[in-house]
Amino acid sequence: MKTPIQFHLNGEEVAAFADGGANLLDLLREAIGDLSVKGGCWQGTCGTCTVLIDGAPRLACVTLAESCGGKSIETVAGLRRGADLHPLQTAFMERFAAQCGYCTPGMLMAAKALLDRNPNPTRENVVDAICGNICRCTGYEPIIAAILDAAGAGRRRA
Ligand code: FES
Ligand code: FES
Repeated sequence: MKTPIQFHLNGEEVAAFADGGANLLDLLREAIGDLSVKGGCWQGTCGTCTVLIDGAPRLACVTLAESCGGKSIETVAGLRRGADLHPLQTAFMERFAAQCGYCTPGMLMAAKALLDRNPNPTRENVVDAICGNICRCTGYEPIIAAILDAAGAGRRRA
C-alpha cells in the first residue's frame, strides 16, 4: 500500500507516494530522483545518507518516509545557489577533503547543520558534528580543516 506524502525539498514543495515502511533515502532517490543523497550501509551506521530535516541532521536510511510529511528536508543538491557553490563545497575542494567522494554528501550536510546553529565552531565542535560520518579515504583532517575554513569564510561574509 502506498501513502501520499508532501514535503519541502530544498525549498520546493514535492509530492510522492511512499511504499509502506519505505525509508526516506529510497524515497528521495527512487521516487523523487534526488540522487545527491547517497546510501552506504542502509542500517544507520555510516552517515553517508545524512540529510537535514527541519534543520537537524538525520539518517535518511532509518527515517520512515511517511514521518516526513510537512517537513522541510535539505540535501546536498540544495547547497549551491545557481553558479555559486556553498562555502562548505568550496572549502572541501580547496582542502582536498573529498577523495572517492562517497561520504561527502553526508559530511557536507552534517557540517551545514553545525554551521547553521553555530557559525563559530571549535575544532571539538566540528569533530563532534561529524563523529557519525565515516570516511574511508581522507583521514578526517582535511574534512575538519575544510569545515573550519568554511566557518571562517562565513564570518568574513557576515
Ligand atoms: S546509509 Fe544511512 S547511515 Fe549508512
Ligand atoms: S572521501 Fe572516500 S569515503 Fe570519504
